[in-house]
Amino acid sequence: MTQQTIAIGSDHGGLSLKTAIIDHLKQQNIPVKDCGPTTNASVDYPDYAEKVAQNVLETPNTIGILCCGTGIGMSIKANRHPGIRAALVHDEFTAKMAKEHNNANILCLGGRLLSNEEAIHLVDTWLKSTFDGGRHQARVDKLG
Ligand code: RB5
Repeated sequence: MTQQTIAIGSDHGGLSLKTAIIDHLKQQNIPVKDCGPTTNASVDYPDYAEKVAQNVLETPNTIGILCCGTGIGMSIKANRHPGIRAALVHDEFTAKMAKEHNNANILCLGGRLLSNEEAIHLVDTWLKSTFDGGRHQARVDKLG
């Protein structure tokens, strides 16, 4: 399978998670595109959800990760794009299901809910899981 690139973005509420996740992915030689921000200044999460969603839609073999305070705003904005399946996950089960059943192409995480270590575990769980296909493909096809 072709190595996927991970486009990642955050707002100020998710910056710490973003930094930790980038470090973790780079340690594993997973290609990362950092869509910002680069400082902890207050920014608007829809701007970064837009950047990551566009990367996922326009660049082959690219999936995404978005981190804000709760993950909620990021998932709302990303899911306004047809073809994006952004999943807000909170635990190992939802991270696994996001891939197995929903074939999520963006993972959304809450920096005010998860430690860096918990978030990294959810990223690893999502990345190592595989889409089940079959009846789930027909359902995913109906998402638009
Ligand atoms: C920013 O304060 C906060 O609203 C944002 O990080 C996120 O939680 C939105 O859904």
